[in-house]
Amino acid sequence: MNPTSDLGRDLKSLIARANEVLARSLPPENTAPIELHRAMRYAVLGGGKRLRPLLVYAAGYAFGETGSQLDAPACAVELIHAYSLVHDDLPAMDDDDLRRGRPTCHIVFGEAMAILAGDALQALAFELLAHDVDVGVSPTRCVEMLRVLGRACGAEGMAGGQALDLAAVGRKLTLAELEQMHGCKTGALIRASVQLGGLAAGADEPALAALDRYAHAVGLAFQVRDDILDVEGESHVIGKTAGKDAAADKPTFPSIIGMDASREHLARLINEALDAIAFLGERGILLEELARYAATRAH
Ligand code: IPE
Ligand code: IPE
Ligand code: MG
Ligand code: MG
Ligand code: MG
Repeated sequence: MNPTSDLGRDLKSLIARANEVLARSLPPENTAPIELHRAMRYAVLGGGKRLRPLLVYAAGYAFGETGSQLDAPACAVELIHAYSLVHDDLPAMDDDDLRRGRPTCHIVFGEAMAILAGDALQALAFELLAHDVDVGVSPTRCVEMLRVLGRACGAEGMAGGQALDLAAVGRKLTLAELEQMHGCKTGALIRASVQLGGLAAGADEPALAALDRYAHAVGLAFQVRDDILDVEGESHVIGKTAGKDAAADKPTFPSIIGMDASREHLARLINEALDAIAFLGERGILLEELARYAATRAH
């Protein structure tokens, strides 16, 4: 499985850059506590599409920033994402044993170590992001970036969305309720990724607002695609167990509005995203590519 086969050359080189920064930012495997460090590295390295770091880089590039100021936010969002997946897969949550084509973190390291690895990844994300002042981001901007990331992970963002997801098992949600849940559990971190790229690059308020309209649509589109892949994807392609949503009786786009309407919804969301960044012209090319990728990806 090559999770990046359908991305362009620029995006592939940005994935390599994010992987390199992640590998050197994570604690080494040969220092204590070795099991925790191994679990953290296992959860982050060796798989994943790196969509969130790519969004940070793409948003930063759109505003002329290509330097090291983007590396910390790019890696911070991926660390938060990896932590959220480790906890999402735990028996108390989705109880999954396959992730990124490999056994899940708790299957390899045990539940206690998986919980701690998630905790430590979350803390490392904020520590790393705080270092952006060392490479020229102003302290005021950096504090704003920390606030944006904190809000996206917490009760109003990803963790809140996961709580709504668990509470929705076996219930029938309206489309609006489903979008609210998805907006929090998946959308919040995707929006934060785009905002962090814009903030690190010094984008002004109107530009940040336009970027947020783009990110809101991409975030929803990404989760609509995830729900569709859970129905029609194959485990060996998507790298996680297919059919889990229906088996766990989770409300999803296909279960609420059907497959055809889900696809139409996806197309509408992508148009919304592209409209929001039309003002960028050529500068928005990577963001445009990522929006299309979020909606059409096969894994
Ligand atoms: C999976 O995210 C979980 C969702 C939020 C839908 P990704 O599909 O981005 O997972 P990786 O990082 O590529 O494994
Ligand atoms: C996970 O959503 C969202 C987060 C981890 C925050 P899902 O439960 O749908 O993700 P997959 O399908 O297991 O990757
Ligand atoms: Mg889940
Ligand atoms: Mg899950
Ligand atoms: Mg899913």
